[in-house]
Amino acid sequence: MKTYNTIRDMRAASRAAKRTGLRLGLVPTMGALHEGHLSLLRAAKASCQVVAASIFVNPTQFGPNEDLAKYPRPLERDRELLENGGVDLLFAPSVDEMYPNGAPTWVTVEDLGDKLDGRSRPGHFRGVTTIVTKLFHAVEPDAAFFGQKDAAQAAIIRRLVRDLDFPVEIVICPIVREPDGLAMSSRNIYLDLRQRKQALVLQRSLMQVKQMAGTGERNAARLSAAAKEIFAAEPAVRLDYLEIVDPDSLDPVNDVSKGALVAVAAFVGTTRLIDNILLLAV
Ligand code: PAJ
Repeated sequence: MKTYNTIRDMRAASRAAKRTGLRLGLVPTMGALHEGHLSLLRAAKASCQVVAASIFVNPTQFGPNEDLAKYPRPLERDRELLENGGVDLLFAPSVDEMYPNGAPTWVTVEDLGDKLDGRSRPGHFRGVTTIVTKLFHAVEPDAAFFGQKDAAQAAIIRRLVRDLDFPVEIVICPIVREPDGLAMSSRNIYLDLRQRKQALVLQRSLMQVKQMAGTGERNAARLSAAAKEIFAAEPAVRLDYLEIVDPDSLDPVNDVSKGALVAVAAFVGTTRLIDNILLLAV
């Protein structure tokens, strides 16, 4: 695995790889890697001859009171995981390299960027779409791999690529969970033992919706009321949102017959966790 710290070197390396006709896949990350990230790598390796990964804790997607300073940065361990996972090119730029002029020019997906997490975390998705654009310019991948774990992010990136005609195929991979069902996240390490158990309420609420939808309930209001009751039984966890929406527009749906995304965000202590399930059309 070769590591590149500048856009210029990264682009030269990926252009050299692509010149030989190889398909190049990119897995963008903020590091603190876990099985969820590694599943994206495996998907990339399955369809691309050359795999690039990026590690960049992107300051512009963190709000002023969020965890930018304490976000875990186990770089040596991450490098080892990527190397063992068969990554060929690692892009690990500094903040100055990515944002040399401080306040950047923004790439914004309007409307979609203000829904779900975008409503709770103003400016978050503007930071995501700006850095993803910059990573695409640095690496010029044929395909880029993202997780369904961040369902709103996935919808927004699909939209970004469509609206701005990026020549990149976007591949969304399934959520990887711990054995007890908690969605893997770099932020799970913030949880103490008690909070780790409380955090299962996210998954429980989604399973309740899935079970009811599976036995014929189509009404989104009734489904979401049942899920919120599950939260009410775990008062230590503060619900941020639980919404049943169209997976592309992120607009609320009244009826889940055509398929829907059930997305949830909640605070366990000061740690904000997200999770979701997709209900299939019937
Ligand atoms: P990060 O949180 O490091 O996640 C990197 C990728 O891993 C994202 O596409 C995310 O959806 C995926 N991922 C995280 N947990 C997962 C899980 N349990 N199962 C499957 N995939 C999972 O998302 C970001 O970084 C940033 O916003 C980024 C896109 C890199 C831009 O800065």
